[in-house]
Amino acid sequence: MKFEENKRKGILLQRCCVIRAFVKVSASRLRFGFYEAEFRLMKFFVDTANIEEIRELNATGLIDGVTTNPSLIAKSGRDFKQVIQEICAETNGPVSAEVAATDHETMLKEGLVLARLAKNVAVKVPLTLDGLKTCKALSSEGIAVNVTLCFTANQALLAAKAGAAYISPFIGRLDDLALDGLELIEEIRTIYDNYDGLKTEILAASIRSPNHVKMVAMIGADVATIPPDVIKKLADHPLTDKGLQTFLADWKATGQSIL
Ligand code: E4P
Repeated sequence: MKFEENKRKGILLQRCCVIRAFVKVSASRLRFGFYEAEFRLMKFFVDTANIEEIRELNATGLIDGVTTNPSLIAKSGRDFKQVIQEICAETNGPVSAEVAATDHETMLKEGLVLARLAKNVAVKVPLTLDGLKTCKALSSEGIAVNVTLCFTANQALLAAKAGAAYISPFIGRLDDLALDGLELIEEIRTIYDNYDGLKTEILAASIRSPNHVKMVAMIGADVATIPPDVIKKLADHPLTDKGLQTFLADWKATGQSIL
């Protein structure tokens, strides 16, 4: 009798443990799901070397990183290494700093110097065979590499093989030639999605308009690097301004105050 009772209690206890474990796993999966959803939302990098613009936009909490290139550094009129260090201190996200050499050996040396400037530097290399070789060497050392000046899906395939953290297809510059920059993002997305576990992120670059941002998000780019003026335009709508004016006037007429 006693044995039967103990056996029943034992089974009951076992079932409780199974249910508890199930609830625990489901809850952690839910949490993981949320994290995944948050992580998968397209990241916004700001495409500038102007520290004031970076500070202003970073304060919105909407910026996940920064990209620079030699032309943007020249436009800033600042010392390259100093400005990269300042930008890196301003943001926790990756900051792309581009090598200036074109041969592998010098690119590698420059890449190592740039990577040492701050822990969040992503070394940018051009999409040439020497650049890809450099990408492979730096990625093997655990350094994040952004392969830039990508204009075809095959180039993006090579960058992924070289272990790039980011591939930067330039959509605006293709559009300038009456080609289709967005089609390139679509092609790369399709190719990368064919291979599970591929880590290279599609960083849509040379973005010229809010429509570009919307379209690359619809295609599923992992990151868009956007000039500051285009980021600001994303929030603008004349009906938002007009509606706000009406709400403010009506609120004033109530004579109330929230604070
Ligand atoms: C980003 O990494 C590129 O340097 C940048 O987006 C190029 O943009 P542009 O074609 O407008 O110069």
